Amino acid sequence: MNILGIETSCDDTGVAIVKDGREIIASSLYTQKSHKDFGGVVPEIASRMHLEVLPSMTKDVIYKSGNLKIDKVAVTQSPGLSPALLVGISFAHALSRSMEVGLIEVNHLYAHVYANIMSFPDIIFPHISLLVSGGHTQILKVSSPKSIEIIGTTVDDAAGEAFDKVARMFNLGFPGGPIISKLSEGRNTSYVKFPRPMIGSGDFNFSFSGLKTAVSNYKRTHEVKDDLPDVLASFEEAVCDILTRKTLKAAKYYGINCITLSGGVASNRKLRNMFLSQSDKFKVYIPPVELCTDNAVNIAALAFEYVE
Ligand code: KG4
Ligand code: ZN
Repeated sequence: MNILGIETSCDDTGVAIVKDGREIIASSLYTQKSHKDFGGVVPEIASRMHLEVLPSMTKDVIYKSGNLKIDKVAVTQSPGLSPALLVGISFAHALSRSMEVGLIEVNHLYAHVYANIMSFPDIIFPHISLLVSGGHTQILKVSSPKSIEIIGTTVDDAAGEAFDKVARMFNLGFPGGPIISKLSEGRNTSYVKFPRPMIGSGDFNFSFSGLKTAVSNYKRTHEVKDDLPDVLASFEEAVCDILTRKTLKAAKYYGINCITLSGGVASNRKLRNMFLSQSDKFKVYIPPVELCTDNAVNIAALAFEYVE
């Protein structure tokens, strides 16, 4: 079964065709650049850009597939920016009608988690997934692709949002995660002793707004110059340390020894390494970087689980 998936929940436009929830036949991804000047995604601009590129991207993907017969159309239904989601949903409705095939609407977060399930067919259920993106930071107990329980979440900012806001503080550009990660490479991770908020909270929740404020206070009280990469490395270390320790704690509590990562922040090299260093105690699965950030492959693949 060939499913054509569409993703427009934020600033990435994705179109992809996936066969039987596993095999990527063709995929196209366009990351909007117009938000750089604003330090964050502007919903109005995002929706206009999606509308501009969706028709040609869809044509292109179908052409790349060798004009394969499409059996279903799938689209991200939520969560995301409403104006951006609406463009994708309307386009998917029109496409499914014109192709005379059914439409499947899927949850964007479940699709992030599914990146692991499609990449690693021998994955064990239930497993613990740390979902870290620009809008969400959650520890999930995944009993099946369609049965997911939230066991921990951020009480304020998401981890990706913290990366983006710290990058903005230093005028480094957007999105902040990949920029900070690159600048931090090989630098001193214990240069500044940043706090680990809620590390001993006794639950599996997170808080990143205090850490962001700690970076802001440091900037206000110190003259940050050539040592900026060391400050950023210390910040990155704090975020990754919190994420890793809380997730491992949840896995131990639930007696589950299989852990997966998902979402844009899961492409962070330090975070991946921290989790992989636990491979002697846990089965750790991390999807390829291109399936961590927003894309339509995850959408088309997950939709296969909903085919009746
Ligand atoms: O999952 P995603 O592509 O979109 C959302 O659903 O939010 O995640 C985007 C987030 C952004 O906040 C971005 O800064 C962060 O993922 N991100 C990273 C890295 N690559 C993307 N954060 C840290 N390190 C990275 N290498
Ligand atoms: Zn996402």
